[in-house]
Amino acid sequence: MKVRKAVIPAAGLGTRMLPATKTVPKEMLPLVDKPVLQYIIEEAVDSGIEDILIVTNRAKQAMDDYFDYYPELEHRLINSGKECQARELRRVADMANFFYVRQRETKGLGHAIARARSFIGGEPFAVLLGDDIMMSEKPVLRQLIDAAEKYDSPCVGGQYVSDEAIGAYSSTKLQKLEDRVYDVLDINEKPTPEEKLSNFAVMGRYVLTPDIFDILDATPPGRNGEIQLTDGLNTLCHTRRMVAVDYDATRYDTGNLRGFLAATVDFALRDPQTGPWLAEFIKDRAKNL
Ligand code: G1P
Repeated sequence: MKVRKAVIPAAGLGTRMLPATKTVPKEMLPLVDKPVLQYIIEEAVDSGIEDILIVTNRAKQAMDDYFDYYPELEHRLINSGKECQARELRRVADMANFFYVRQRETKGLGHAIARARSFIGGEPFAVLLGDDIMMSEKPVLRQLIDAAEKYDSPCVGGQYVSDEAIGAYSSTKLQKLEDRVYDVLDINEKPTPEEKLSNFAVMGRYVLTPDIFDILDATPPGRNGEIQLTDGLNTLCHTRRMVAVDYDATRYDTGNLRGFLAATVDFALRDPQTGPWLAEFIKDRAKNL
């Protein structure tokens, strides 16, 4: 199994981050000095992805502009001695082949992924959710692709979460295969405490096979009246083997304010340009708390 293509669903309304996201797509909010979306794209590219389809909507034009060339700005930078910055803008635009499709109705994650059918054709593909930003040694998507290749199966990525948190995610019934890798026996979306299958939540990263498209087309609306990817995955794991990777990473949910702030602080602390200054700044401020 070779995974070359990725789908990034980015057609959500961003209601958890209003008012900032009323006119700026949540994927374009800056985390330190880059939009959230760039972190996702970099993880995909570092995992071997070449072609990326972003599922957008009518309010998200800023995303395709970001991965386009901007000659006027580049000339201005070059003429004022800032070649480095100009080169960096080109590097970002050239990181991958970018494609876009609109999800014309907001009908859920499963419906968004189903828009990718003709782009994907008959290949396995990755899905990366834009809210889930990872800090890890080995890219999280690469951890999934390695397991998908080894078991020649679709693969979902996640982590164990608390009893209080599991209801916000999908929960899974698992059977251990090896360290951090499991067979998925069952999966359900946002379970009540009674419905919970385990505390292992699938979060933000998937390697899927094209048979998911027929499944999604036949999947009725589930939680919140939306077509849920999780419901499709549950059918998939009863049709063929599907594995799960307990990924080795710190995960940030940048779709809510606390997660966004935590990611901002942690990434800025790690950045040599801002880290030492920010550490001092936080220490100084903490004295008065
Ligand atoms: C989505 C998925 C859910 C997953 C979560 C975190 O939910 O539907 O299965 O666990 O992302 O990746 P959302 O956070 O969009 O409500």
